[in-house]
Amino acid sequence: MKHLFQKPNDPSRPTLLLLHGTGGNEQDLLPLAGRIDENAAVLSVRGNVLENGMPRFFRRLAEGVFDEEDLVFRTNELNEFLDQAAVEYKFDRQNIVAIGYSNGANIAGSLMFHYQDALRGAILHHPMVPRRGIQLPDLCGKPVFIGAGTNDPICPAQESEELKSLLEKANASVQLHWENHGHQLTFGEVDAAEKWYKNNF
Ligand code: MLT
Repeated sequence: MKHLFQKPNDPSRPTLLLLHGTGGNEQDLLPLAGRIDENAAVLSVRGNVLENGMPRFFRRLAEGVFDEEDLVFRTNELNEFLDQAAVEYKFDRQNIVAIGYSNGANIAGSLMFHYQDALRGAILHHPMVPRRGIQLPDLCGKPVFIGAGTNDPICPAQESEELKSLLEKANASVQLHWENHGHQLTFGEVDAAEKWYKNNF
C-alpha cells in the first residue's frame, strides 16, 4: 500500500498508524501525529480504493452504505500490510495505535472488529459502526477513543453510542467524546484525544 514511515525518537513508544478520510492521502493527518506523540514512529497509509478519483480504504455502495465484501477484503489487506511494515521498518507489531478520521476511522474500527491483535488501541475521529451481526474478538485491555458529533450528518449520535456499546461488549475500554461541529475534526476533539492518549500510553 502507498504509505510513508517516520522513524521514532523513542522506539519504546507506540507506532501511530494514520488513516485519512475520503479524498485524503497519507499527508493529511501528519500534524495530528506530532500533537499526540512527537516521539512515536508514524506509519501513514493511503487507501487502496478510488471513488471518483478520491482515495478511500474500502468501497461503499452509497453514502454510509458499505460494500461489506470489500470492507472485509480491505481490512485483511491492511492487516497484512501492517505485518509486513513491522518487519520492514523494525517496529513492534503489537504496539500500533491507529488514528483515523471518518473513512479511516471506519477501517481502524473494522481492524478491531475482525482481528484481536491488529491494534493496541485506537483514536477514532467520527467513526461509524463498520459491520453489524458479527462476533467481535476479545478486546480486553484495548483503549479506544471515539470523537463523535451530536449533530454529525454522516454518523448519527445514536450510531456513535452503538459503536461504543459494541466495543465495550468485546471488553474494550472506550471513551466517547462529544463535539457539536457536525462531521468536522476540531481542535477541541484533538485536544481531548491527546489527553486520553497521554493517560493510556
Ligand atoms: C465512509 O464511507 O467510510 C463514511 O461514510 C465516511 C466517509 O464519508 O468517508
